[in-house]
Amino acid sequence: AVGTPLTIAIDGPAASGKSSTAQWVAQKLGVRHVDSGAFYRAITYLALSTCGDPESWVADDVLANAPRISWRLTERSVLPLIDDIDQDTALRDAPVTRQVSRVAQMLAVREWVNQMVRSAGAAVDVVVDGRDIGTTVFPDAQLKVFLVADSWERARRRLVQRLRRRPTDAEIAEETEELVARDAKDATQSAPARDAITIDTTTVTQEEQVERIVALARATRERM
Ligand code: DC
Repeated sequence: AVGTPLTIAIDGPAASGKSSTAQWVAQKLGVRHVDSGAFYRAITYLALSTCGDPESWVADDVLANAPRISWRLTERSVLPLIDDIDQDTALRDAPVTRQVSRVAQMLAVREWVNQMVRSAGAAVDVVVDGRDIGTTVFPDAQLKVFLVADSWERARRRLVQRLRRRPTDAEIAEETEELVARDAKDATQSAPARDAITIDTTTVTQEEQVERIVALARATRERM
């Protein structure tokens, strides 16, 4: 119906290509991309400087920094801000990546991220990527996609991106182990919604998967 914002959920495990796929799909549809993981990263980034030893972090202390985090609309995305500044590069750094799954386990933090992401989705049409978007954050999303890929292939893609060369089998094996460990930590948040369309991207190019999702989205839009 007119007035109902379009919400597309793209979920999947680490390194399944969710974020870049979601970004590309959003661009083709002319709507905003929301990277829900970036909010977990933002609150983790602040905890690193204010909460002391990560082993002793508790949700109340972590969330004390929440008022410093906001978002604004850019042409293409919902951009998280820390003290009104875009910190995207810092959010991808290793110290944040190492601690973020700890923070993502905290229920109160999850509630806070969900509220931030829902407020963005209430304002504009969005393609949101994450782990629990189709199940928890937007259970009424008009289109839900769940991306899966073989862990070896996910590890290989991640290494190619990081090293900018062909990784060795030993390197891929090591990275695969790390990914599988991270999947296990995130497991509770990574189940597909019952009405999600699962796409296995192991042998599909990113262009093909983007085209497929865009076609599904266009069909969805016509039905609205
Ligand atoms: O996708 P990412 O690597 O930026 O995610 C960062 C962390 O946040 C990761 O531990 C998974 C978690 N996350 C989550 O639990 N739920 C989401 N919707 C998005 C991310």
